[in-house]
Amino acid sequence: MDRTEAEKNIAQLREEIRKHDRLYYQDAAPIISDREYDRLYKELVNLETQFPDLLTPDSPTQRVSGKPLEAFAQIQHRAPMLSLDNTYSEEEVTNFYKRITRLLPDEKIPVVIEPKVDGVAVSVMYEHGRLKYAATRGDGFVGDDITQNIKTIRSVPNQLRGDVPEVFEVRGEAYLDKAGFEKLNKERTAAGLPLFANARNAAAGSLKHLDPRAVAQRPLGIVFYGTGVVEGAEVELHSKIFSFFKRLGLPTHEDWWLADSVGEILKRIRDLDQIRRGFPYQTDGAVIKVDALAQRERLGFTAKSPRWAIAYKYAAERVETRLNDLLIQVGRTGILTPVAVLEPVFVSGSTVARATLHNEDEIKRKDIRIGDTVVIEKAGEVIPAVVEVVKSKRPRDAKPFDFARHIQGKCPVCGGPIRRDPEFVAWRCENLHCPAQTTRRVEFFAARSALDIESIGGIVADKLVERGLVREPLDLFELKVEKLGKLNLGTDEVARVFGEKNATKAIKAIERARTLPLSRWLFALAIPDVGKTTATQLARFHDAIANVANSQLLRDVVHYHQKRDQKESAEEITDRLMKAGFAERSKGKSAKHGIVTEVGPVVAQSVLDFFASAAGKNVLRRMKELGIQPKSEKVSAKKAAELPLAGNTFVLTGTLPSMTREEATAKIEALGGHVTGSVSKKTDYVLAGTEPGSKFDKAKELGVRIIHEAELRKML
Ligand code: IVH
Repeated sequence: MDRTEAEKNIAQLREEIRKHDRLYYQDAAPIISDREYDRLYKELVNLETQFPDLLTPDSPTQRVSGKPLEAFAQIQHRAPMLSLDNTYSEEEVTNFYKRITRLLPDEKIPVVIEPKVDGVAVSVMYEHGRLKYAATRGDGFVGDDITQNIKTIRSVPNQLRGDVPEVFEVRGEAYLDKAGFEKLNKERTAAGLPLFANARNAAAGSLKHLDPRAVAQRPLGIVFYGTGVVEGAEVELHSKIFSFFKRLGLPTHEDWWLADSVGEILKRIRDLDQIRRGFPYQTDGAVIKVDALAQRERLGFTAKSPRWAIAYKYAAERVETRLNDLLIQVGRTGILTPVAVLEPVFVSGSTVARATLHNEDEIKRKDIRIGDTVVIEKAGEVIPAVVEVVKSKRPRDAKPFDFARHIQGKCPVCGGPIRRDPEFVAWRCENLHCPAQTTRRVEFFAARSALDIESIGGIVADKLVERGLVREPLDLFELKVEKLGKLNLGTDEVARVFGEKNATKAIKAIERARTLPLSRWLFALAIPDVGKTTATQLARFHDAIANVANSQLLRDVVHYHQKRDQKESAEEITDRLMKAGFAERSKGKSAKHGIVTEVGPVVAQSVLDFFASAAGKNVLRRMKELGIQPKSEKVSAKKAAELPLAGNTFVLTGTLPSMTREEATAKIEALGGHVTGSVSKKTDYVLAGTEPGSKFDKAKELGVRIIHEAELRKML
């Protein structure tokens, strides 16, 4: 074929493929089979390979382009991406409508009721009809540039159709469809990877993947529900946007309603609840929005969200199923936890077969018996909870479950001794080498929030321990590709090896972990009482793990609390702690000379105890032998004191409009502030979002200053 002919064929094929994309994604009316489509697609790829100079970026084959990124670039939103106030009751919806009627008296205020899609918010910018860039919401003002990834979604047009506005920024929710989510988790089970807790996390994980080729494998979709910056078009009514989107070729809601009375709004919310399970994507509520943009403008915003819209969230879905058995699992710290084995049921977008029953007392309190019909509830997570037993359906011969008799005084996994922790309402396996404990510790060690070794999930950890390749987490650093590749994830009868490719990837991630920040290591080691916050604090004041192990600061904290009453000796310790920036004068009137330390005496003792124990000493010795040196995050005392929020304690409550609580915490801490869990007189600020909890009331009671996100932003 000569070049001219190729050029003609290529143009025809592209046109043809675009047409079928439209029929498939926008009209849901395909006229050719998937196979036929694939044939056309392959033909185009072949021609473009033969004539590379004819390849253009707008070709349908170029949805997946580019190489894996090192990191996402940042994009500043031209109009901020705000969030909505959530409500859970019809009464609050009623109040919402009453409020806006009061604000705009004597006017008809039509509102649109539409589904609230449970996915990930994205913004896509079109200029002269061409897709320019796409971004995540990020903190509402700056997001990640995910253009490459969005382009892999076939329902998102690269080029808008018809009469296009000059600038058209569309906002919507990206999702992984229900079937795709189930399939993805099945594949991950087979590959021994950790499962996604829900479709939303899976969608978020997919969009944040640095390799667009991997993203292209995920069945992502988008529902567009609004606009950002628009130039060259007049949008006056939200209700007109759905047909406008459709004309331009943008996927949007199929089901939405107009209403202008409370009664009608509530009826539509209930109607939506009846049909939403049939949607291909997950929904968790209804969004109620004022239709006229002119009215929206007059209603305006509060500090956190628009006054012209509200989200109503449906109650978590509940279903009945049979409880076939009760198993006992052994956790990372040896705690024995009962797990309900269920007759598999489909609920809130996935099939569930297990439910957690936190402890023995829960079984007693709810009188849960094998053979019972139980009501389970899933609040967006894969692992649901047992709400109650349907007593009327109980088989006559069902007997109360006797936990103690069931375990017969020994660990159900290793047969080792167990002890009932009086404070913990739980039994604990005392054998530190219990394979179940080791497995969970390895899993925890490799988890995303710890050392982020993605390939080592629950199943791989299980098999590594079972086959004797790993006896403690640090053994991971001695694994070799060859041996790991041969690891059998299946059974002796039906073998299924981990494979060299996966093994290479895993080893790479393990190697990368060597120099991760110290705070991650302190968290990953599962030291009793050390959560993420404590790990971060410790890492700010110590530059190496050995220095945490024999920390003068921690010893001082313990001593200070022991000696507080003997004024003399406490003085010297106080001085040292203050100089280091590890303590500050407490503000309460009663403790005039008192100090507050970065970590309390119980945690300090716990950390010291851990490193003094055989297990802790072993960790230190092995890390040294293996040459592992976590990256220091220590800030000098002087610098720490100069940070703008130094010495200020914050407590967070409620949902923040444009950032998660973790993001807010990280921002506050980076500027020297301190975030704690409970409000006291020593708290400087309570940062309140929507639906604040009891901390809000406590702050009011104690006269602690309450701020909202906007004020925090100013401080930052
Ligand atoms: S409108 C000014 N409509 O829910 C706020 N949001 O807090 C504009 N969401 O982050 C949002 N479905 O990502 C709107 N039909 C819908 C939605 C929707 C899902 C998400 C959105 C936002 C959150 C609300």
